[in-house]
Amino acid sequence: MRYAVISDIHANLEALSVVLEDIRSQNCDATLCLGDVVGYGANPNECVQIVFEQCRPILEVGLPIVKGNHDEAVTSGNARDFNDAAAAAARWTRETLECENAKRIADLPMTVMLDDVFLVHASPFEPERWHYVLSVVSAFEAIDHFPESTRVCFIGHSHCPSVMCQNERGDVLRVSGSLVSLEDQKRYLINVGSVGQPRDSDPRASYAVYDTESKTVEIRRLQYDIPTAQRKIEDAGLPGSLARRLAFGR
Ligand SMILES: [Fe+2]
Repeated sequence: MRYAVISDIHANLEALSVVLEDIRSQNCDATLCLGDVVGYGANPNECVQIVFEQCRPILEVGLPIVKGNHDEAVTSGNARDFNDAAAAAARWTRETLECENAKRIADLPMTVMLDDVFLVHASPFEPERWHYVLSVVSAFEAIDHFPESTRVCFIGHSHCPSVMCQNERGDVLRVSGSLVSLEDQKRYLINVGSVGQPRDSDPRASYAVYDTESKTVEIRRLQYDIPTAQRKIEDAGLPGSLARRLAFGR
């Protein structure tokens, strides 16, 4: 199987379109989504519809999409923990999202398990508290909390792609490079980065391809039409900072 794993689309239709085109060229069998389909960007309805079309239900698993903190804030109306720009975007998205699309993301599960893969938006450690996994220390805690029957855990949330691995001795290490070979006996925590609002100083859209035959994960980066995404954010009356940051990937 070849899985495409997308996350943090954040209503950025221009970035999502380019990623889906690349997924087709990569001959992926299925697409998995780690949440935050909406929030920040100007096309929440279009992105919800496209993501739910792309991520087809998988036999005995169901829909392979988990809920992100922005999906939760937008549909619950509670954006208490958000900064001003994020809260303004959540309010705008709540008003803009059609009922049917709001219901679809409100009903998403916090975690999904398929074969040896575990999906969660933020961290397998207390998923509903949306912890950020940025350091080896937080990765250690996260790896300790995904089911032992699963070897690979995909996460998003920080918008920074990374691969962490735990060896046979229990040590957690950061793995460098965009193409990673998964070794037997090791467990992996893989952040696929963000489709619609990367924050690792690389403004290109990010997603991952997991190949279960070759046992590899590739983080792929793609250029997309940033000026159009920015113009739409400004035209919608969303905070200008949300448009500007797209150019810097911060
Ligand atoms: Fe996000």
